[in-house]
Amino acid sequence: MQIIAHRGASGLAPENTLKAIRLALKLGAPAIEIDVQQADGELWVFHDRRLDRCTNGHGVLSRQSAAYLQGLDAGDGEPIPLLWHVMAAIKGECELHIELKGIETAEGVADLTRRAEVELGFMADQWLVSSFHHPELARFGALRPEIRLGALIANRPLALSHAAEALNAWSLNCDLDFVDEALVKDAHDRGLKVLIYTVDQLEDARQLHEWGVDGIFTNRPDLMLKDTQLG
Ligand code: G3P
Ligand code: CA
Repeated sequence: MQIIAHRGASGLAPENTLKAIRLALKLGAPAIEIDVQQADGELWVFHDRRLDRCTNGHGVLSRQSAAYLQGLDAGDGEPIPLLWHVMAAIKGECELHIELKGIETAEGVADLTRRAEVELGFMADQWLVSSFHHPELARFGALRPEIRLGALIANRPLALSHAAEALNAWSLNCDLDFVDEALVKDAHDRGLKVLIYTVDQLEDARQLHEWGVDGIFTNRPDLMLKDTQLG
């Protein structure tokens, strides 16, 4: 079961910052997940629609200028990183799972993944691009059909696993609250991997491992990576 550092090692450092990314790498995480949104023509690594929870700024991220966003503190004095800065920090040392949070992200992510394969040593099979927004994910899939897609599903996973199949997704990325053994089996029978978010308790992780789940997104990669039962 793959341990995916959720928003970097976000239980230990400010989420989606280079500090959290570097810490996840140092811990030996085989994969890191980040959230991507577009503003002022750039791709920013940031989870919330609004800036208020995670920065000293205010308002909706996608409506701000690059100059404003660059000056914000996303925690511990860290800026909001651009997607390219995260790619440059990782340089193909582990997988990068990119969640398309907003619309108008597919094209930019397609361009940057291509460029990172040429300039930063990434292989095409080191990306997994996911989204709750399936039309945006389909747009990305059309641009880069060789890259794995993860269909994010917030509820009714059994019904919506049809959507994952329609997208020709590699994985069904499902909320911990909705997973059970039957869901894992059903997805596997359809040829889909199952990745579960967000798993921070060891007992949950061990249960998912027993059910044959393929990967978990966790804010505590430090705890999960040293647990011998998950190996
Ligand atoms: O990709 C898994 C998970 O990150 C999806 O939910 O809200 O943490 O982006 P959220
Ligand atoms: Ca996410």
